[in-house]
Amino acid sequence: MADVLPKPVLLIGAGALGSSILKGMRIVGHAVPTDLMILDLQPGDEAKAYAADGAQLNTPPETWEAARTVILAVKPQGWHAVAAILHGNLRADAIIVSVMAGVQTSSLQQAFAGHAVARVMPTTGVATGKGVASIYADGEDALTAANGVFAPMAATVVLSDESQMDSATAVSGSGPAYVYAFVRALEKAGRETGLSRSHARDLARGTLISAARLLDQTGEEPDDLIRKVASPGGTTEAALKVLCAEGAGLDELLLAAVQAAHKRSKELG
Ligand SMILES: NC(=O)c1ccc[n+]([C@@H]2O[C@H](COP(=O)([O-])OP(=O)(O)OC[C@H]3O[C@@H](n4cnc5c(N)ncnc54)[C@H](OP(=O)(O)O)[C@@H]3O)[C@@H](O)[C@H]2O)c1
Repeated sequence: MADVLPKPVLLIGAGALGSSILKGMRIVGHAVPTDLMILDLQPGDEAKAYAADGAQLNTPPETWEAARTVILAVKPQGWHAVAAILHGNLRADAIIVSVMAGVQTSSLQQAFAGHAVARVMPTTGVATGKGVASIYADGEDALTAANGVFAPMAATVVLSDESQMDSATAVSGSGPAYVYAFVRALEKAGRETGLSRSHARDLARGTLISAARLLDQTGEEPDDLIRKVASPGGTTEAALKVLCAEGAGLDELLLAAVQAAHKRSKELG
């Protein structure tokens, strides 16, 4: 049985990621606006649309006690101030679900003493109802709440060791940007080999989307899908000899990139 999301939900921070979570909830429908309380210093369009549909926006502290799940989606630099504001205004069994990169469970447990805590590293792709999210929880209640929020709108991975969160951040948290950088490079290469700007744009983006769909729908391994595109002596094989050159190709480049993100994630923590 799917994990049930304890409601109402208090979302603190409706910026890039918080708004993506709200959009995902709207698509999937596992939390409707009246299940939501939203706090944001300068609410954006998504938070305002939720408020128009019945969510409570920036209501006073005495209302927060109703929340059973509290999603912390502010920048890591700002969370201590949020914890101070929440202190004494949450019900004892409210569960803290933090999506903040690098903020350790032990720090959250200290700030929210007595509350169950989960850390989640989602992608902004949750806005489409099909994101990715890594979860580390300090117990069953926290895992249920984190899964309750994210499993309906993301492929979830439950980590058994919190230190793996740095790797998850480096692979999937930052990962969408690597893919966008790849598309940007493919567009640029298309232009430099003779395509118009708009044709290069459409072909590069369409290629990513159709390849991702096949990966998703067939469940086949990347190597098998590559074999289906790259015939011996053909154009794809010629490109792959450059792209995947042993010792100086994509594998090495991506490993170095992920290692850099992993190192930074540890530093931020
Ligand atoms: N963006 C991503 O792809 C992504 C992915 C994984 C994890 N994360 C994590 O998600 C968290 C949020 O990132 P983001 O990119 O969404 O940042 P963001 O766009 O800056 O959103 C944070 C929001 O929180 C608001 N806020 C700040 N302090 C607040 C307070 N005391 N009370 C209420 N609202 C407050 C901010 O308002 P103001 O703008 O007025 O300050 C802003 O709207 C970060 O901790 C980040 O590590 C982000």
